[in-house]
Amino acid sequence: MESDRRAGAVIAAMGAYVPKQVVDNNALARTLDTSDEWIYARTGIRRRHVAGPEETTATVSQRAAEECLRAAGFPAADLRWVLVSTDTPEMWNPASACFVQAGIGATQAVALDVTGGCSGFVASLGMARALAERGDPVLLIGCEVLSKAMDWSDRSTAVLFGDGAGAVLVLPADAARGLAIEAVYARTDGRDADILGKPYGGTRNPITPELVAGGHHHRIVMNGQYVFKHAVLRMAEAAEEALRIAGVGLEAVDWVIPHQANQRIMDAVADRLHVPREKVFSNVEEYANTGSASIGIALVEAIQQGLIRPGHNLLTVAFGSGFSWAGAVLRTEVVVPVGADLV
Ligand code: ACO
Repeated sequence: MESDRRAGAVIAAMGAYVPKQVVDNNALARTLDTSDEWIYARTGIRRRHVAGPEETTATVSQRAAEECLRAAGFPAADLRWVLVSTDTPEMWNPASACFVQAGIGATQAVALDVTGGCSGFVASLGMARALAERGDPVLLIGCEVLSKAMDWSDRSTAVLFGDGAGAVLVLPADAARGLAIEAVYARTDGRDADILGKPYGGTRNPITPELVAGGHHHRIVMNGQYVFKHAVLRMAEAAEEALRIAGVGLEAVDWVIPHQANQRIMDAVADRLHVPREKVFSNVEEYANTGSASIGIALVEAIQQGLIRPGHNLLTVAFGSGFSWAGAVLRTEVVVPVGADLV
């Protein structure tokens, strides 16, 4: 007997938020030995949005969540899960998602954080799909407030990052139409765990007066060229594997929405996949690398710009600390409602 229940899960609505304080490259060049030319040539970044004194991972996440739920017309009280993918949590514990849950009134939800590097949002999309497939409405937010967690005197990392959040409402496929989550592929390789990250302030290197005096408490450790090389290889792999699982050929992809790490990485991934660069959405110039938030913000902007149409196949790919990498294929059944408070 044929079931009338549609299998799978869809993104039914999206939201995005970035802080209103903008720091451009010239502003950074006033305190760091750097320049707009150097930063733009190496990364494609011109400016980044930075949280104000009152803004935190919970408040920035909540703004994106509110935009998403308002666009969907979906009551927060009907959510079963609130997931926040972030590497810059509100605090050690409880989870950032608990504060978001309280803020939006998702009284029936379980609130959890995922620490998955810059690919945490895409990997979490796989979890959200599994939860939604069994009938649970899920709100997934990717958020970073990197500005409060990094060393602004280190020119090798300070120029790269920005703050923001993207949110998606993931529902069972028989409850809504939207961006059908056709496939999610996610991997990690912990052998490279020490290459990129923020190793101070945890249990391995607890905060001490000496640590703070040495300026270590905010330090981001990164081997830039090693990260660059692996980001290109792994994002290409994630793209190919996600497409293989979805049964979609590269030629049938209408838009690639990559993690906005930097323009040179995005260009290199496009070239490696033989995808025309015009099919690769980029807003890294405006927002810099917003980690787990970048794909949500990019998808929302692509929709706002009218680039996504019914029938379009979307490919998202990401790479980050861990190392971790992930790709997802989304099929546009209908263009989903989005709410956004961006530039
Ligand atoms: N301004 C001016 N000079 C700088 C700056 C800066 N902001 N930062 C570094 N330099 C200097 C270095 O000190 C070095 O000087 P030296 O030759 O006198 O020693 C010189 O520039 C070259 O440094 P490299 O690290 O070799 O520069 P590179 O061309 O590799 O570019 C970059 C650095 C942009 C970080 C590049 O390696 C990169 O994009 N890596 C990927 C990193 C990334 O995206 N990380 C984000 C997190 S992971 C993710 O999201 C995928």
